[in-house]
Amino acid sequence: CGIIGYVGDADETLSVLLDGLSNLEYRGYDSAGVAVGGDGLRVEKRAGQLDALEAALDDASVAGPVGIAHTRWSTHGPPTDDNAHPHTDERGRVAVVHNGIIENYRELRDELEHEGVTFASETDTEVVPHLIARELRGGLDPEAAVRAATDRLAGSYALAVVVAGTDALFAVRHDSPLVLGVGDGESFVASDVPAFLERTRDVAYLDDDEFVRLDDQGWTVTDADGATVEKEIRTVEWEAEQTGKSGYDHYMLKEIHEQPVSLRQCISGRVDELDGRITVEELDDLGAPETVQFVACGTSYHAALYGAQLLRAAGIPANAYYAHEYATAPAPVSGDDLVVGVTQSGETADTLSALREAGGRGAETLALTNVVGSTAARESDHVVYIRAGPEIGVAATKTFSSQLVGLNLLTARLADRGVERRRDLVDELRGVPSDVQAVLDESNAAAVVEEFVDADAFFFLGRGLDYPVALEGALKFKEITYEHAEGFAAGELKHGPLALVTANTPIFAVITGDGEAARKTLGNVKEVEARDAPVVVVTDGAAEAGQYADHVLKIPRTDERLTPLLANVQLQLVAYHMAARLDRAIDKPRNLAKSVTVE
Ligand code: G6P
Repeated sequence: CGIIGYVGDADETLSVLLDGLSNLEYRGYDSAGVAVGGDGLRVEKRAGQLDALEAALDDASVAGPVGIAHTRWSTHGPPTDDNAHPHTDERGRVAVVHNGIIENYRELRDELEHEGVTFASETDTEVVPHLIARELRGGLDPEAAVRAATDRLAGSYALAVVVAGTDALFAVRHDSPLVLGVGDGESFVASDVPAFLERTRDVAYLDDDEFVRLDDQGWTVTDADGATVEKEIRTVEWEAEQTGKSGYDHYMLKEIHEQPVSLRQCISGRVDELDGRITVEELDDLGAPETVQFVACGTSYHAALYGAQLLRAAGIPANAYYAHEYATAPAPVSGDDLVVGVTQSGETADTLSALREAGGRGAETLALTNVVGSTAARESDHVVYIRAGPEIGVAATKTFSSQLVGLNLLTARLADRGVERRRDLVDELRGVPSDVQAVLDESNAAAVVEEFVDADAFFFLGRGLDYPVALEGALKFKEITYEHAEGFAAGELKHGPLALVTANTPIFAVITGDGEAARKTLGNVKEVEARDAPVVVVTDGAAEAGQYADHVLKIPRTDERLTPLLANVQLQLVAYHMAARLDRAIDKPRNLAKSVTVE
């Protein structure tokens, strides 16, 4: 799941690798390992958290100018020491770390076993070191051996390889992210920039099938045929300190509090208060699609549901689909349609696959993403960056609110609403960062959750634009508290879920805006109250909903397209404070990963 590789000062290799792994912890993992090479090759790997690995390395005699390390999130075989990366050949001369899935590993494993190779793990990855060792035995030099081995692989991979007796590191990618870091007398590869951000901010994103060699001379990138590729080195703006917790107990809380800043970044230069114009530079060459289809997973899917409603309200037919369902059962599309992948990481395999399916059918594609140079950004016809900055907590918070703003920008760009309506939105958008700040300053969420520590289950209701917020509120809550939580469309409650409602199932109802929707949801609130359920209303004062609630989480009044974003901030805090109260692993909830790069 997380990869870091280093070539540089032999005495620093181990600490650079361990720091890198710790910077990558946020991706979620269940085992970790390192290999340090040079004359020999020392490999240590352990199931569990990083301290298990560090304890195994305690003798501190591990030095060498080149090393690779990995945090694993299991796909083939359970988390065990043997299944942890790096994987090696039988003689322990080749060590490999891998992200992705080798789809033809069964066939390769059969072939190697037939030749007498004994496997030490149940992973798909382990075929790679054995393939490389075979090529080395056949007389190829290490670089040629790595290339020959990767030629045999089908599937997705970011690989980093060290070979005993060689002071070089080899890495290659196909459908899985890999970034090169260029330091002073040292160089890095990693699955993600934060891995080495304390050491260098100069990076180059690798493209598919590019091959990197790092050695004491620096780095070279070549294409699949071995021809040199000139890479553009960019300087990442993020400060190393930005990837630390800045005094908050958890990254998640820090990121919740960063929203006024991240939202300001998102609209910066895009909304003009003078003439009410909304400009998204990246979209200058986007035409006027007949329909829009959104594809996304998890939190991003909830943003997509919201985006589809915004567009429909603006007169543009739009729908949101789970990306994995879309990839299996796509909706009809033509060249007049736009398919938008909403994906904060830009690397979610399900979403990439849905975008490819749509692109293959002739639709125009657009990625709404937080990661510049991510696969979704590179593969789509258009891209809009949400500019939320790095998000370390596995539970998405600031990326979600920036997605909602990004979807407003996209809608404004696609729909001609007339200047007045647009000016309203521009004014309110510019006010959102301070509205979020007001919610953060005044929220009573911590006190409210205290009432419900022993509840049986938690239900979240909303209608219209508040419905995706109810779904997101419940998802966040279950992800980090491990308590049972479900979100429902408020109107659907009476068609089934009401059977679950008791005096010990608190209901969080999101009721914003002035319309009929708020009044109707209030009717649903009365239905649950009649069943003795405690009610918490998240409201801007709509339909005087607060009167009917046991507790009120207040949000400022603003444009009804934006109140759902503010309501969501209250629900982020609800989830966070309950998880903190229950002492959960908030930044790294069990079984979850920040970015799921397998289908
Ligand atoms: C994973 C994460 C979720 C996230 C989803 C989509 O499941 O745990 O928090 O919402 O992926 O991620 P994306 O990067 O595509 O927005």
